Amino acid sequence: MKLFDVYPLMPINIVKAENCKLWDENGNEYLDFYGGHAVISVGHTHPHYVETIKNQLDQIGFYSNSVINKLQEELAEKLGKLSGYEDYSLFLCNSGAEANENALKIASFSSGKKKFITFRNAFHGRTSAVVAATDDPSIVAPVNETDNFIFCEWNNVDQFEKLFFANLQDLAGVIIEGIQGIAGIQIPSQELMEKIARLCTENSVFFISDEIQSGYARSGKFFAHQYFGVKPDIITTAKGMANGFPIGGVLVSSKIPAKHKMLGTTFGGNHLACAAAIAVLEIISNENLVEESLQKGKYLVQKLNEIPRVKEIRGKGLLIGIDFEIPAAQVSKKLREEFKIFVGSASNPLTMRLLPSLTISYPEMDYFISSLNSVLNSI
Ligand SMILES: Cc1ncc(COP(=O)(O)O)c(C=O)c1O
Repeated sequence: MKLFDVYPLMPINIVKAENCKLWDENGNEYLDFYGGHAVISVGHTHPHYVETIKNQLDQIGFYSNSVINKLQEELAEKLGKLSGYEDYSLFLCNSGAEANENALKIASFSSGKKKFITFRNAFHGRTSAVVAATDDPSIVAPVNETDNFIFCEWNNVDQFEKLFFANLQDLAGVIIEGIQGIAGIQIPSQELMEKIARLCTENSVFFISDEIQSGYARSGKFFAHQYFGVKPDIITTAKGMANGFPIGGVLVSSKIPAKHKMLGTTFGGNHLACAAAIAVLEIISNENLVEESLQKGKYLVQKLNEIPRVKEIRGKGLLIGIDFEIPAAQVSKKLREEFKIFVGSASNPLTMRLLPSLTISYPEMDYFISSLNSVLNSI
């Protein structure tokens, strides 16, 4: 059987990793400034992470959600403490799309309504409702088409307010990324975030923050929306949550009651996934990775600002978008082939995304900067 060919692959077979380094089958070493798409939060094969998963596997890897699982409770407690959301409750699932899908269901069940405001160029995943919340026709199949999503221009506060009141009767929620990721690291304005928070609270509409890419310490705060002093009703997480072990989470405000049967999953919150996610939170806490991400991000941005052919830099913490005047793919290819560095792309072909592990070192950042400088001077 062949693989269903949906990805344009780089001709590289990665077989081993340690912290921010990767090795291919020929022994070539790469520096990982991509983190497998913002997934590697605490470094590849972190000893505490590996040991925790191995120990858990010796005990039990999986049992169903029909029995008590103390690891889920431990994960919820630790996540509550570290994120500042101790009064919220946690629903566990397996991926980012699934987390958002469940967030929309919670808002819809609880309000009895079915419309959502979403933003242009957002990305919320590829499953049924969430793919319809993404205005990219190349990923929305006819079966996913619905008029339940209303698209607002990014950072257009007046348009948001008009759409909000024009649809209020049917409006279950507003979904927005803490910082737009695939769109090229686009930061919402303070005014927009405050407006969403205020209008949602005043009108009993649910505010959903998609923190799948921008959360879990990556932005230099635990969640990116915390930069704006707002408190969403529902927050979704995945990617960095278990450093590559599949898991997703929905944090739900105490004002939203749970009901049996409204949500469910076979694999979500299994013992092994919880052990991996607990290890990640312990490492984030022990190694002070929220603050580390903030400081390292500042350092990178300062160094990037010194490079003349960089047109624009956006970002917070280790979630950084760089615009060039030439296609970013040209720069990335040279970085990969000549300097053995992986970086991320974005929907804008001129934008490069940096999403390294929060454990990246200062010498590694310096190597990236000098390599980028050389590449740009050679094009
Ligand atoms: C902001 C955001 N939301 C949702 C998703 C979907 O997550 P997953 O691929 O785990 O389904 C992604 C993935 O890139 C994302 O960046």
